[in-house]
Amino acid sequence: MLNLVLFGPPGAGKGTQSEKLIQKYNLVHLSTGDILRSEITQGTELGLEAKKLMDQGILVPDQVVIGMISNKLDSNKDATGFIFDGFPRTVAQAEALDELLKSKSAAISGMVALVVDNEELEKRLLNRGKDSGRPDDANPEVIRKRIVEYNSKTAPVANYYKDQDKFTSINGIGTVDEIFGSICKVVDTF
Ligand code: AP5
Ligand code: MG
Repeated sequence: MLNLVLFGPPGAGKGTQSEKLIQKYNLVHLSTGDILRSEITQGTELGLEAKKLMDQGILVPDQVVIGMISNKLDSNKDATGFIFDGFPRTVAQAEALDELLKSKSAAISGMVALVVDNEELEKRLLNRGKDSGRPDDANPEVIRKRIVEYNSKTAPVANYYKDQDKFTSINGIGTVDEIFGSICKVVDTF
């Protein structure tokens, strides 16, 4: 089983690269951001609660996203592997993911981190905000808040995987195909 964590700050290109990786490696794409947005669209109670935080650029509680991932792992029992995009975003989520996978006799194969500077991140997200309809893309202050949340709560997750010798970082600036090539070189060593 190939279980890849694609890591990086908001706008680093996790979603863009996931689309290409799922095709090449036949993986199931699990993006907690996408799952939360679909809950919002469906108007569920969970979605309504999450929206209040997401619109401010603040992380939703760990137990909410861990529960969502647990359900998705259960409903994709025949998958040959998963790509985790935007999850785990805290050390508590990373620990919970290890436990969930262990209970299925599986493990994370490795983490690939996309490195992109703040100026480029803000440029990409504001640009996407022109037509994405995502409230958290529309306002420079909320974009900066997402980056602050990332630096304080999410960046430490890299150390969690470094300690397990499962961490590689690559340059996230360049064309989508160039970056895809760099990620594949790493994934092929897993
Ligand atoms: P989430 O949906 O995960 O958003 P994010 O991580 O903040 O960032 P994005 O999805 O916007 O960026 P991305 O890295 O996927 O980049 P993309 O490929 O889209 O989370 C949203 C919110 O949900 C969070 O703030 C939080 O509230 C909540 N949440 C989600 N998961 C959570 C969790 N686990 N725990 C707690 N809360 C959680 O690319 C961005 C743009 O750049 C696009 O327009 C793209 O076309 C462009 N682009 C991509 N690659 C390139 C390139 N190489 N060159 C130029 N432009 C590029
Ligand atoms: Mg994304």
